[in-house]
Amino acid sequence: MNVADSEVVVSILKNAGFKLTDNINDAGLILINTCSIRDNAEQRIWSRLREIKHLRKKNREVKVGLLGCMAERLKEKILETDQLVDIIVGPDAYRELPELVTLAESGHKAVNVILSREETYADISPVRMDRNGVSSFVSIMRGCNNMCAYCVVPYVRGAERSRDPDSIVKEVRELFDSGYREVTLLGQNVDSFNWKSGGNITDFSGLLEEVAYIDPLMRVRFSTSHPKDISDDLLRTIARHGNICKHIHLPAQSGSTRILKLMNREYSREWYMDRIGSIRDILPGCAVSTDLITGFCTETEEDHQETLSLMEWAGFDFAYMFKYSERPGTKAARKLKDDVPDHIKTSRLNEIIALQNKISSISKKKDIGKVFEVLIEDQSKRSADQLSGRTTQNKVVVFPKENKKKGEYVNVIIEKCTSATLIGRII
Ligand code: 5AD
Ligand code: SF4
Repeated sequence: MNVADSEVVVSILKNAGFKLTDNINDAGLILINTCSIRDNAEQRIWSRLREIKHLRKKNREVKVGLLGCMAERLKEKILETDQLVDIIVGPDAYRELPELVTLAESGHKAVNVILSREETYADISPVRMDRNGVSSFVSIMRGCNNMCAYCVVPYVRGAERSRDPDSIVKEVRELFDSGYREVTLLGQNVDSFNWKSGGNITDFSGLLEEVAYIDPLMRVRFSTSHPKDISDDLLRTIARHGNICKHIHLPAQSGSTRILKLMNREYSREWYMDRIGSIRDILPGCAVSTDLITGFCTETEEDHQETLSLMEWAGFDFAYMFKYSERPGTKAARKLKDDVPDHIKTSRLNEIIALQNKISSISKKKDIGKVFEVLIEDQSKRSADQLSGRTTQNKVVVFPKENKKKGEYVNVIIEKCTSATLIGRII
């Protein structure tokens, strides 16, 4: 999400005459795009700002700007902290950046953290900053209307709004024409995509179908789905198109219905299991990944065991796992006590990581002997004679080059695996 936003920011600034540099020592303006989702994300930004402070000592002309969620959350407060920052721009105010930079250059504090109900940057062609030129991200909506008790996103990114489907299709077609072969459609809750125009409504299934029709050689991924909203209709749309990837990221957060209720996730353990059941029925062979939080307010050992058993039952192919981090202003921070001691959060996190490693390794071992269509993304990091790509299930595969190039599709038979990678050869 932040990469996609940075690409919009680069586009806005390039149009205003700014140039991008790879060398921070050459920069007259340093912008840091920020995330507030957990406290450690913010701590990393503070330490980066302190590093940059040294650069500013050498060159007083350098201006520093903070963009995105942390700018939105802390607003003018950041300007007061030790003169680390000159410009503060929230996620809906990037269009104002050129004017704000001018303001900062004339010695004023430049702040715009106004959130919008309409801004989607639909007309802006992002300047791609990915390295491989094969896979890219396209933002299809902004903000979030869910109120998960732990989450700061609705406060820092504002209300949910969908982007005009025509502008999405145009952007993906341009990507395809310039050689890209995979696009990931991004939103906090893609299932609630909704665009009304002249009596017609485009929902997420409709959008996905339109994007899939651009070209069968263009793979389409999407993230993130919400378990309360993911419908069988959507799963059937995915099943109908070979180029819509068979991978669903479906954050469970917890396996305990009691905790899910406190988290305000609006589904139960049983509901989540039912959705996984539908994925297995309608999309056999589809990979499922998830997000999990350990140590949310009041979580008991029994709740934790329910998360472990859900993981075993679902057999997730991949999981992002986090310790609960209280975020100021959220419903959990206001109404619930962050009462699970840090050492218990850590030990539960370690347990779920160990279990997930075991489950992921079982899922990879099952792939040995199977043939997958792989989109080649790049040279392997380890060896120039090897290529690296992904299966539709989003698993990384490494294999000998054999004159193939990135952007091509090949069939690869899997011969062995490491903890993170499938290894095979082209057939
Ligand atoms: N603490 C820990 N993890 C969080 N996430 C969101 N907010 C928090 C928080 N306060 C996690 C959720 C979400 C992912 C993007 O980040 O698992 O799905
Ligand atoms: Fe946060 Fe919940 Fe929205 Fe995801 S769906 S961004 S966890 S509020």
